[in-house]
Amino acid sequence: MVAGGLAAAAGLVGGCSGTDQLGVRAGTTAGATSRGPTSNASTVPFRGPRQAGVVTEPQPYAAWVGLDLAPGADRDSARRLLRVWTDDIERLMAARAPVTDLEPELAGVAARLTVTVGVGPGFYAAVGLEADRPEWLAPLPRFPVDRLDPRWGQTDLVVQVCADSPVAVSHARRRLVVGAEPLVRQRWVQRGFREPLTGSREGLPFRNLFGQVDGTVQPAVDGIDDHLVWLGRDAPRGLRGGSSMVVRRIAMDLDRWDAADRRARENAVGRRLSDGAPLTGTSETDPPDLLAKDGLGFPVIDGASHMRRAMPQQPHERILRRPYSYDDPPGPDARTDSGLVFVSFQADPVRQFVPIQRRLAEADLLNIWTTPVGSAVYAVLPGARPGETLGQALLI
Ligand code: HEM
Repeated sequence: MVAGGLAAAAGLVGGCSGTDQLGVRAGTTAGATSRGPTSNASTVPFRGPRQAGVVTEPQPYAAWVGLDLAPGADRDSARRLLRVWTDDIERLMAARAPVTDLEPELAGVAARLTVTVGVGPGFYAAVGLEADRPEWLAPLPRFPVDRLDPRWGQTDLVVQVCADSPVAVSHARRRLVVGAEPLVRQRWVQRGFREPLTGSREGLPFRNLFGQVDGTVQPAVDGIDDHLVWLGRDAPRGLRGGSSMVVRRIAMDLDRWDAADRRARENAVGRRLSDGAPLTGTSETDPPDLLAKDGLGFPVIDGASHMRRAMPQQPHERILRRPYSYDDPPGPDARTDSGLVFVSFQADPVRQFVPIQRRLAEADLLNIWTTPVGSAVYAVLPGARPGETLGQALLI
């Protein structure tokens, strides 16, 4: 009922074709953000050359599950796992219950559910395909700002589950984990949220817990920037139609942020809090003027601001960001445990993500308040076309 209500309020009830477009936040590095149409379908198609959940307009609720293959796993057991997941995911995304579902009623509510499966370096080792592992599928370099907790570290597999309903996320996540036992062991679960879609709020930008408009400058997802996100003709074996996924858990010190005044906050990112416009512009999509000076001759956009440091220095240094906020119960000595599950998709994380993260680690005013505490990288498998299973081309 709840999910149905949400879907109805967002105008989501209706067809099942699914546009699979990151319509709301698509733009270019030149700042030409287009606020295209939001999806009007209540289910997203599972079958196709690419997995859903990458360029799909971000749903409000998400969970990522990091799993390891059970000891002794081999190519056969990996095939079995992906066969089970393919069937279960296809059913869940179509709002149908997996065959072993003990709460089938929970699966029956269409909530734009997507499930995206990725594999880590350990997967390649376990299935005896080490020689085919893409070079970029390896631990990211250690950045000086990192304070990584092994609790949120690299795993053999990741499953990203997103939906308009938290019930749908919770149910699908559990079904996929339980359905895959004893082939896998769950190591961690991260949960994230964005603004729920409701009639009056539809199309609102994502604001992270610092209150910043986040996700303005993105590669276009209408085909022009496909090469930045998707693996094409030159893809490593078995990954054509796939991508890579970086998952960084970044703690945000909201208590220290409280102590910063509005000017310091806006200076730290180079954009206005009210509407996300660059400090030199009047609207969110205005390109920033990096040469503009204030009355005293200082740059209006600080050279160490997050935006300035994150901007591409080479045309390929662009990534598709799909972050979510988290707000977990704090430990006994803390008031908050909040931050960003920073998720990005790119064809090659070493070429595209690492140079950006290096510049941010060297100098980014946001580092005063943010600390990466988890890091993992995965190859996103290609989609499953009709009759195929996920990972089929890789595990032949
Ligand atoms: C831009 C916040 C971490 C890459 C931005 C913007 C905000 C923001 C508010 C400006 C609006 C926009 O274009 O989206 C944050 C916060 C972070 C974080 C709060 C951590 C808690 C990261 C990380 C990376 C990154 C880890 C990649 C290594 C980018 C890029 C842009 C951007 C590429 C667009 C820059 C441009 O071309 O204008 N971020 N970000 N961010 N961020 Fe982050």
